[in-house]
Amino acid sequence: MSDTVIVNEVGLRDGLQNQPRLVPVEGKLAILEALIAAGVKSVEATSFVSPKAVPQMADAGELFARLPRDRGVAYAALVPNEKGYERAVEAGAKTIALVLAATETLNRKNINMSLERATEVNIAVIKRAKAEGIEARSYISAAVGCPYEGGVAPEVVFGLTDRMLDAGADEVAIADTIGCGNPAQIKHIFSTLAQRYGPEILSGHFHDTRGMGLTLTWAALECGIRKFDSSIGGLGGCPFAPGASGNLATEDLVFMLNESGFECGIDVTGLRAAVKVAEEQTKQKLGGRVVAWLESQERRKKAAASAAAE
Ligand code: HMG
Ligand code: MG
Repeated sequence: MSDTVIVNEVGLRDGLQNQPRLVPVEGKLAILEALIAAGVKSVEATSFVSPKAVPQMADAGELFARLPRDRGVAYAALVPNEKGYERAVEAGAKTIALVLAATETLNRKNINMSLERATEVNIAVIKRAKAEGIEARSYISAAVGCPYEGGVAPEVVFGLTDRMLDAGADEVAIADTIGCGNPAQIKHIFSTLAQRYGPEILSGHFHDTRGMGLTLTWAALECGIRKFDSSIGGLGGCPFAPGASGNLATEDLVFMLNESGFECGIDVTGLRAAVKVAEEQTKQKLGGRVVAWLESQERRKKAAASAAAE
């Protein structure tokens, strides 16, 4: 099985969408530059959603037009409906991500549609994307639990995955929106879907509310999954899913992958610099566990050097 893992950075979209302080386009581009310098090659850059629903993403068109295109980075944009699809394609998107929650209530809160309507809209947009040569990625949100309805049966997730793939989706991302999952659940979902469809078209998106993000990632890796979303500094959360904290921090994910012999092409020291840029832009303290550890290592080294110099 391949040891190469794609780390898909979602900090600019999932990470920022819940931030109270609006980060200007220049600030988003500064975060992106730092991520690219660290080796990031796959980025969900923004979402073409209603600016009333998510003011932070109101600049999606301008940002997308200004993304650096000559650095070997693949960009995606999240779209909630046909209008978002059209805006994204007009701005130059070649890959779109759609969102479908596994429960009635989360669809209504997130995109103001019933589960059945959201499923139909997702199918229509996927079909249109495929006809127009655009790649389509489908998120199944609340795949293990919903902030409004509680636990979600895996059969519901399997059924929605079937429908998205039948419609032509290139990839399905299983999302633990509020970070309520455990590794046994994730293993069951991914092993079942990987057996049915192969692991190549599946990916994981884990919010790290209870510090389980890495454990869930490992459970999915063991099922052959080789693509994961994460967010620089652990930024993130869905404004319409109370209790959703940040995504798994990119630096923690990359550290685990590098230490375990997986190849993702990203450098943790570079990510630490990107965390600093994200902190400057959001005016808050960020960073996964590995940032605190790296800082403590540096403090120890400095102390040892100055003791040796005395
Ligand atoms: P609505 O109010 O039902 O939409 O919102 P509508 O179709 O009735 O239209 C109302 C107005 O919005 C109209 O404008 C439309 O043109 C406009 P008006 O006539 O009032 O001036 N509109 C749009 N404008 C820009 N872009 C669009 C768009 N669509 C309609 N695409 C809607 C429905 C879906 C638009 C809204 O609820 C929405 O934008 N929701 C997005 C919510 C969101 O961004 N959630 C976070 C992303 S999902 C997530 O974080 C989960 C994920 O990370 C995985 C996980 O962790 O689970 C992916
Ligand atoms: Mg999310």
